Amino acid sequence: MHVIHLSVECFPLAKVGGLADVVGALPRYQRKLGVDAWVVCPYYDKPFTRDNHFSPIAKGTFFQGSEEFHYEVLKETKDSLGFPLYLIRIPGKLDREEVYCYLDEAEQWIAFQHAFLHWLKNSQIKPDVINCHDHHVGLVPFLMKYADDFKTFADVKTVFTVHNGQYQGWMNWNKGILLPAFDTWKWGLLDWDGLINPLATAIKCCDAFTTVSLGYLQELYEQANGLESLFSSEAAKGYGIVNGIDDAYWNPAEDKLIPVNYDVESSKKGKAKNKKAFCEKYGLDETLPLLTYIGRFATEKGADLLPEIIVDIFSNPENKIGIFILGSGDVQIQANLQALLAAYPGQLAAFFGYHEALAHEVYAAADMILMPSRVEPCGLNQLYAMKYGTIPIVRGIGGLKDTVIDVGVRNGYGFVFPEADSTDAVSAIGRAVDYIGQRGKMQRIRRKEMELDFSWDKSAQQYINLYNRL
Ligand code: ADP
Ligand code: GLC
Repeated sequence: MHVIHLSVECFPLAKVGGLADVVGALPRYQRKLGVDAWVVCPYYDKPFTRDNHFSPIAKGTFFQGSEEFHYEVLKETKDSLGFPLYLIRIPGKLDREEVYCYLDEAEQWIAFQHAFLHWLKNSQIKPDVINCHDHHVGLVPFLMKYADDFKTFADVKTVFTVHNGQYQGWMNWNKGILLPAFDTWKWGLLDWDGLINPLATAIKCCDAFTTVSLGYLQELYEQANGLESLFSSEAAKGYGIVNGIDDAYWNPAEDKLIPVNYDVESSKKGKAKNKKAFCEKYGLDETLPLLTYIGRFATEKGADLLPEIIVDIFSNPENKIGIFILGSGDVQIQANLQALLAAYPGQLAAFFGYHEALAHEVYAAADMILMPSRVEPCGLNQLYAMKYGTIPIVRGIGGLKDTVIDVGVRNGYGFVFPEADSTDAVSAIGRAVDYIGQRGKMQRIRRKEMELDFSWDKSAQQYINLYNRL
């Protein structure tokens, strides 16, 4: 079976969040199971593209509105990621340093989708399944059925994976002119509430959609940023498949990015050594339990709650913990956190920005990780944390609810709190600190977490089962 994953992120080519981790790992695990999985992404001007060798394999030209675009398809020569990686380059549109944040994002992603289909058609490549990831490529299932030039793909099955339903790619109808010519009486498939909504289009037109956890699938019927009724009416083709982790890269026994490697048996000593090195570097007290937050500064992640949580904790002198924050995003949240750093020297430290290697060091050094998310389709941080023996304290929502069981429940190994507010978060942190302070308890749950199987093998097979069913 031949499957093409289409995405605008893929680790290590271009990563903003978990989407990249999934697209950079899932295809490799699918190949191990006998599927010919490829990845197609936009070209970026990034270290990965500068440091690796690419061969041009195709080129073409198309009109987007009145503008003529020339594209080139480049294949990474060595398949160094463990799967064939193809990049589509369009000078001035798909050759930039960042993935997001450009004002012409709609034009960029329409061009990417158009060039992708144009290339497949001209090269007579006809996969069995196209697995599209998130709204940036949500128009592809529509174009394959209703665009004049691409109807030859009407019988190719499409799976659309929702990594995050909060972002939908809305565009004004004046952008409609930029799409390849399509059956105009089908315009309603593009529309949601008066705008072109690529996420809604994908859900309407795909053969099946998946979400990155079962819990999140259920939540989308009730809370989907305006698409609740659509998800409900299309529920028969919805599947929840939880993300896995790439244990070739996220494995404390072999991780080259952490000072001291360890496995379950050596985790107590190994983590202590990593923590010591880390605390020395960031001026934190290594004798105190170390809590961390790693992630985007977004309200969806509950990052706006962090300043209040920190003040609540440290306003009680009996609360003796260290806190380390690694993140970037909303500038106001960052400024609020920055303002607290001076108030709690030795107790609070932070790195503002995106730092892949530092994230590994933090997972290895910390005792606990906090995720006070308002929305969390899956969440990879808690999975990486557990693999590194770091105890998750999470709000019970979406994928967090599916992957973390509270210690209060039989066989539990984490701390789950009900609401995304500082009171609930602080009380869960208190519960966790008490618990790990009791003799032997920390090591017991750490062992349990490190032995959990969150590898991609099972979930990669579930995707394949779905492709087969289609
Ligand atoms: P999301 O995709 O919603 O941001 P996930 O939990 O699925 O959340 O994935 C987040 C990924 O991004 C993880 O690999 C995490 O380690 C990484 N990450 C997030 N922020 C940073 C940062 N500032 N520096 C390094 N890695 C980060
Ligand atoms: C999204 C979600 C996150 C998920 C990731 C990978 O960014 O916010 O919860 O883990 O995609 O699927």
